[in-house]
Amino acid sequence: MESGGKSSKDKVVAVVGGGLVGALNACYFARRGFQVEVFESRDDIREAKIVRGRSINLALSHRGRQALSRVGMEEKIVSKGIPMHSRMIHSLNGKQSPIPYGKKGQVTVCVMCRNAGLAERYPNAKMNFDHKLWLWSPTHVLLLWLEGRPDGSAQSLQADLIVGCDGAFSTIRKQFLRRSRFNFSQTYIPHGYLELTMPPVAGEFAMKPNYLHIWPRNTFMMIALPNLDKTFTCTLFMPFDEFEKITTGDDVMEFFQEYFPDAIPLIGVEALKTDYFRLPAQAMVSIKCSPYHINDKCVLMGDSAHAVVPFYGQGMNAGFEDCIVFDEIMDQCNEDFSAVLPEYTRVRVPDDHTIADLAMYNYVEMRAHVNSKWFLFRKKVDDILHFLLPKKIVPLYTMVTFTRIRYHEALQRWHWQNKVINQGLLVCATGAVLGGSYLIAKHPPKIQSIPIEKVWDRLLSLKV
Ligand SMILES: Cc1cc2nc3c(=O)[nH]c(=O)nc-3n(C[C@H](O)[C@H](O)[C@H](O)COP(=O)(O)OP(=O)(O)OC[C@H]3O[C@@H](n4cnc5c(N)ncnc54)[C@H](O)[C@@H]3O)c2cc1C
Ligand SMILES: *[C@@H]1O[C@H](CO)[C@@H](O)[C@H](O)[C@H]1NC(C)=O
Repeated sequence: MESGGKSSKDKVVAVVGGGLVGALNACYFARRGFQVEVFESRDDIREAKIVRGRSINLALSHRGRQALSRVGMEEKIVSKGIPMHSRMIHSLNGKQSPIPYGKKGQVTVCVMCRNAGLAERYPNAKMNFDHKLWLWSPTHVLLLWLEGRPDGSAQSLQADLIVGCDGAFSTIRKQFLRRSRFNFSQTYIPHGYLELTMPPVAGEFAMKPNYLHIWPRNTFMMIALPNLDKTFTCTLFMPFDEFEKITTGDDVMEFFQEYFPDAIPLIGVEALKTDYFRLPAQAMVSIKCSPYHINDKCVLMGDSAHAVVPFYGQGMNAGFEDCIVFDEIMDQCNEDFSAVLPEYTRVRVPDDHTIADLAMYNYVEMRAHVNSKWFLFRKKVDDILHFLLPKKIVPLYTMVTFTRIRYHEALQRWHWQNKVINQGLLVCATGAVLGGSYLIAKHPPKIQSIPIEKVWDRLLSLKV
């Protein structure tokens, strides 16, 4: 396509960061015919065993799948993942209760995050591992200084577009910070996370595999996602002060006895005592910024533009959706970067900011409310209404996870639905109280008390 005198064939797009979003983005640009150079500071991550500090298995949902399917990669990735149909809540007493995501067929897929090889199918896309970006300049000449060549020397490259996909601690973003009218905020939550492995039992999964397992314990929480090798990766989320209190193997055991007793035999006492101390707990940060671009030269996507806390399982999905949104705007604006980049910022910032907020909201909800009867009751009501009025009432979680409704629109709809539902419940409750009082006045009952727990249990066991 012609634009700015050069055709896309002659234009160089430098993608900095060959992580999840960088590798996928490289496909999107390569498909359009650009000369794509991906620079990744790590060794070939397809071979590295564990990506330190980053979950190797992630929940891929609708937005991410859509983004993969546009470049013909969905089946390839999904077939190597394990579908998760529901969440499984583990109570303190060891009881397990499933909370379905929504309708039948709505599943998230747990995938390993090694798609660095994605772009290799395109002859015009090149992966450069061991290449770390040091410095770059958005104004005149675009220079990428790269480290990691065998002789340790620097190398430079002039690119027509630089795409910053270099993660939450982006080097590309540093240049944005020096510019005027760039909004930026970052928040570290008081929680850290630590990963533990749950091995297979006699060659089989130690727990039911097609679930996202959750142990909600108010301020702590553990989750477990299934892997293809029949292990589970358990992630323990806990405030850093609590992590710091646990210093010996015995402390670990005591802590697990108290909060996650059913997980002890599954992870194994010895493994627990040692694995717990293998790596320090990792921090989690939420980053928002705006704009996402500098002139027609540079754009941020993925975690470099919006790191979110992991409690909605949307970080990668949002980053993948960035690629689709950018691609759609490329069509609308005939690949003219001077129009595409500002439009991308305009369209995408409100959505990415919303998912950052929602993830933060879920951080509170997942820890506290998954245990709360009101939350479960409201969820049931939402699910029933969704069943009765599938187009009108859609639970927020469903809109975020199983549709491509723009994040900020999903949030607006949810506020509206909540208002309507809560008013409806109020009306029903008032009606019930009035009606009840009337009946009681007319026919005084023989006193029979039903424990409130039973009432809730009955309500909760309503099948949709
Ligand atoms: C505990 C946890 C659980 C999560 N679970 C989920 C989930 O279930 N579902 C989901 O959708 N998301 C999840 N996420 C979020 C997800 O991991 C991120 O959103 C995703 O990895 C972002 O991809 P990215 O490519 O933007 O950044 P990254 O994956 O961070 O990749 C950035 C890449 O850039 C490279 N790089 C950095 N600096 C330079 C440089 N100067 N030069 C060259 N290369 C550089 C890095 O080596 C890296 O490969 C989770 C996150 C955490 C922490
Ligand atoms: C920065 O934030 C302020 C306050 O929210 C907002 O009014 C302004 O439009 C933002 N600027 C950019 C460039 O996003």
